[in-house]
This record gives sequence, C-alpha cells and structure tokens, in this order.
Amino acid sequence: MGCFRSLSLYVACCRDQAPPSWAACDPAEADACCGAAGQKEFLGLVASVPVESSEQPRAVEVLWHFLRDIDPWSLDAWRLFASMGAQRANQQVTSKCVGAMTCRVLAPEIFREVVARSKPALGPGNFSEVGKDIASAEEYTAVRQAIFSCPFKAIRWSRQPRVRLEQLPPLYEGFPKRIEDNVYFMGHPDANTFACAGFFIRHEGHNILIDPPIAHPKLLEAVQQMGGVQHLCFTHVDHTGNATAWYEATKASRLMHKDDMVEAESKYTPFPVTKGFEHLLELKAGETTALEGLAEFQIIHTPGHTAGSIMFLYKKKFLFTGDSLHYSAVKGHLVAARVQCWQSWELQTQSLLVNIFQDFQWVLPGHGDWRRFESPGAARASLDRCVWWMKRQGRGRTWLPWYVIWIECRKLPPGLFTWLADSFLMTQGAKDSLPNWTLPSWFTSLVLLIPPAMLLFCAMPWTTLKRALPL
Ligand SMILES: [Fe+2]
Repeated sequence: MGCFRSLSLYVACCRDQAPPSWAACDPAEADACCGAAGQKEFLGLVASVPVESSEQPRAVEVLWHFLRDIDPWSLDAWRLFASMGAQRANQQVTSKCVGAMTCRVLAPEIFREVVARSKPALGPGNFSEVGKDIASAEEYTAVRQAIFSCPFKAIRWSRQPRVRLEQLPPLYEGFPKRIEDNVYFMGHPDANTFACAGFFIRHEGHNILIDPPIAHPKLLEAVQQMGGVQHLCFTHVDHTGNATAWYEATKASRLMHKDDMVEAESKYTPFPVTKGFEHLLELKAGETTALEGLAEFQIIHTPGHTAGSIMFLYKKKFLFTGDSLHYSAVKGHLVAARVQCWQSWELQTQSLLVNIFQDFQWVLPGHGDWRRFESPGAARASLDRCVWWMKRQGRGRTWLPWYVIWIECRKLPPGLFTWLADSFLMTQGAKDSLPNWTLPSWFTSLVLLIPPAMLLFCAMPWTTLKRALPL
C-alpha cells in the first residue's frame, strides 16, 4: 500500500503542478509526494485517461509497476486492470474455431461474426473474430469466460495480462443471470454440451431448465434458492451431456424427442443414454404440444438439425431454438447453421414454416447470437427472410464423420492442408458458409475421379480401347 499511496500522490502532484502530460513526471520520485491522495482518487484519475490518449501508455506503465499493491478484489481495481488490458492484453480467435459461437454469447461486445468469404483461402478460417479491445472489468471477465468455455479452445491471449492466478475473481459469478421477465441465462457452458447456452425459467411450481450447462455446485445452490428445478428439457441430443448430473441433483423429470434418444452407451458417441427419460415425445414434424401442467410452455418438433430437434415457445415471447435457428448480425436476419446441419437442410427449412411461429419476440439459441425483436411482427419478418435465405443455400447435410475429421484438421496451422480439408470434406452448401474461399465441389469431384479414370484407361487392353475409341 505504501508504494501505492506514493503513486497516488505522484499522480496528484502531476495534476496540482499541472504538467500537461504524464511523461513530464518521474515515478521514481513518487515517494516524495507521500501522504495526501487516496486510492479511490488515484483509480478514478488514471481510469479516466482515454485509451486513445497519448498520455495512456505512460499511465499504463506506471499502473503496471504498482499493480501488486492494489487490492485485487475491489471493483475499482478491476476497472483499472481492464483499462490497462486495453493496452496490454489482447485476445485472438484462432483457426481451431468451428463456429460454436460460444464467445459471441458470453462476450458479445468483444467478439463478432466473420463475414463469409472475408478470409483468405490459406489463412485462418475462424467464424468469429475480435471486434474490439477490452475496455472494462466486465468485458475482461467475459473474455476470460469465452477463453475458458470455448469447446474447441479456439481463443487465446495474444498478449496475456500480467496477473497472478490467485488474484483473479471467480470465472462465473451471479448466475443464473436474468435476461427478461422470469427467464435466465445459466452461464457455465462446457464441452459436455459443446458449450451450448442453457436457460432457466422461474415459473412457480414449474421451474424449467433448458439444455443444462455444467452442474456446478454454486449453480445448483443458486437454482435451489430460486425454487429448484421441476423440468429438465432438451432441445436435441447434442445438448444432453449434463443430463445425468442434473437429474441426480434435482430428480426433475427429463424431456426430449424420441428420435434423438440414445439407447445404449457407445465409445463412438459422447452422449449419455437417454432411453430412461420420463418424457420421450413422439411428435411428427411441425406438431406441437404443451408441457404437462404448463400450457404457456409449447413444444414444437422442428427436425432438420437432428431428427429429434425441438424448440420451446414460452409465453408466446421466448423462443428457445436449440441449434435450429439463431440471429446473424452480418446478414441482419435470423439464420440456421448450415455447416452443422446433421439431418437435412430441406427439412430444417420446412420446419420453420409451421404456424406457431406467428408470435415470438426473443430468439434464444443454444449456439449463436441472441436477438430481441421490437415486436412479434419484426420477428416474423426476420423468420420469413431466414426461410427465403435457407431455400437459396446448397441442399443436403454435413456428414458427421467428415465433420469430426474436419475439426481435427483445423487443429493444424492454417495453410494448404487445412484449405484442402475445407475443400474436400465439406459439401458445397456447408462450404458456402465457411469464411474462407474453397475449391468448388465440381472441381473436387473431378479431382477425385481422375485417378480411377486413369487406372481404368491404363488397365484396358489396347484392342478393347481401339474398339471403344474411333482410332
Ligand atoms: Fe446441435
């Protein structure tokens, strides 16, 4: 604290003696000023130096020197630290990114969507990128969450903040976090569910947890204080990774569509066995039903992403879309993830045409940007635009084994090999959604056909060839 107070005085002296810039003061002389200004004044003074100011680098140098003397648990200290982060810490999305979009949910002010085809063919083909530097303690925490929760570990510090681990505040605090009305974001996304967003609805006697995240003891305690969980609802099989842990902790009834049920454990699938779920829906595509005892909670079968994908519409306002629908800031309307379409793109498009989608205002996906529309009419117009856009994308689906190989290839440094993986492993529809330029499918098919054609040509006896060709 001694050094810190000295610096406070030093700052105050700089101000009182009115030197026009920080560079005019020598921190080594700070001790001579000891005794007047307090911590709060100091923090306020330095944090108010704008990032773009020519004085900031000097202020940051001074602050870094004295960081160890600041109480790391005070909010002011974190504001200050984040202010320094603007100069000293930078984050980067790497080519390991496969478009889970977790970072854009956790830190929407920092990470943004990449425009398709904006990346060079041999460069990093990440789907999200850094839009701005850290400018507040909240943003710094959000970036830490993004780095921790990204299921493919595609975010890293390009310049790491110099701070001791024991000084860092808890990564997730204050969750579940209220979104609007009685709907909450659970936070704590983890790799078990490919870091999907989980949501909690606090409805007297019918508390619902949708696509639950990691069953962290603090999260369990917080939910317990809010009345516990009575229903565990899953939009589709990809998000059931934490089903067992939450069921054991809450004994809430579990609900999903039968078409996504996992009957037996397998080393080839990361999903838990779900055949014992209390509610296994047998809805047909486009059919709807309500949660038992809660008519305000509608369930819609929307296959396409997976055969058993369902959406939840609560109070005709909140639409929980799983992986079937999300918002795109770049396109300016709702979209669906073409790369991660496992069943059928045509079916996924068709699923969005049911009448129940007349009324909603919030779109809350498992992966991808959230959106609150001004009115149900605006939401409906955006959905119409989405269907129009989807009909113009390449048909088919992404074959899951190819996708797994493609993910493995993305762990390599970006270059020729990763570009070839993009070009040869993805279908044309999926390739159109990649941020980097790829070889068109007709070319890749041609390349794949040349070796067998050559072999056939060479193996054919000369006499047969003479008969076949007009020689
Ligand atoms: Fe999914």
